[in-house]
Amino acid sequence: MSTVRTVDDLRSALAPARRARQTIGLVPTMGALHEGHLSLIRRARAECDVVVVSLFVNPAQFDERTDLDRYPRSERRDVDLATRAGADVMFAPSADEVYPPGFATAVEVLGVTDRLEGAARGSGHFRGVSTVVTKLLGMSMPDVAYFGQKDAQQVVVIRRLVADLNLALRIQVCPTVREPDGLAMSSRNARLSPEERARALALADALQAACGRAGEGERSAGALVDAARAALSARGVEPEYVELVDPETFEPCEGLAREALLVLAVRIGETRLIDNAILRPSAVGTPRQPDPRKAIV
Ligand code: PAF
Repeated sequence: MSTVRTVDDLRSALAPARRARQTIGLVPTMGALHEGHLSLIRRARAECDVVVVSLFVNPAQFDERTDLDRYPRSERRDVDLATRAGADVMFAPSADEVYPPGFATAVEVLGVTDRLEGAARGSGHFRGVSTVVTKLLGMSMPDVAYFGQKDAQQVVVIRRLVADLNLALRIQVCPTVREPDGLAMSSRNARLSPEERARALALADALQAACGRAGEGERSAGALVDAARAALSARGVEPEYVELVDPETFEPCEGLAREALLVLAVRIGETRLIDNAILRPSAVGTPRQPDPRKAIV
């Protein structure tokens, strides 16, 4: 695998593949790679001729300076892991390469960015994500870009911008990868103390509790959210939000008339964690919800 740091070098590295009409897959990351990222790289490897992994801790999507400063950075390890997962090119630009002096453009998706993560992390968060993803797509011009379902609202925002800007690529969303005990993989998990790590299981418990109630036939959003809240509070965790939302728009759902997404965010110590699970309406007494803790690739 080669590591390139400039847009010119990235384009030169991809030119032979483009000339040969080979397919290019892009896995955008902020580094600190874990099994979740590696599952995206492996999927890209299986589906595309050339796999590019971008590694850029995007300052524009952090509203809190301390969060940006504390974001884990481990390029050598990331290069090693990405190589072993099958990446061909690592694109690791500097902040000046992505945002050169005079840079003055922002990409903003309206509506879906107002709520939940948009509200909790500040208006700049999704603007920063949309801007950098649009730039990464323009720089690498992939046929497919790979994202994880754990960041479900981000996925909706990116799908929207790709459709609205008529970008010619496919967005592939891959399932959340979990630790054996159900905690969703996240670069932020490394910041948890052993006591916080144990409490973080509250997220998977909460999703499981809501899935369990849906499996018993419960359809009221209030009751499903209450089940999730009770599981969080059993481990002493206060949510920032717990909501049942439409998976396409992120608007709140009153009930489980059709497939919906239970989304939640919590703060454990200094660390903010998010997770989500798809709930499907079930007939009473026929539990057939997927166990979110078993969604392990
Ligand atoms: O999900 C992430 O890691 C980031 O938001 C992304 C998509 C790489 C943009 O910086």
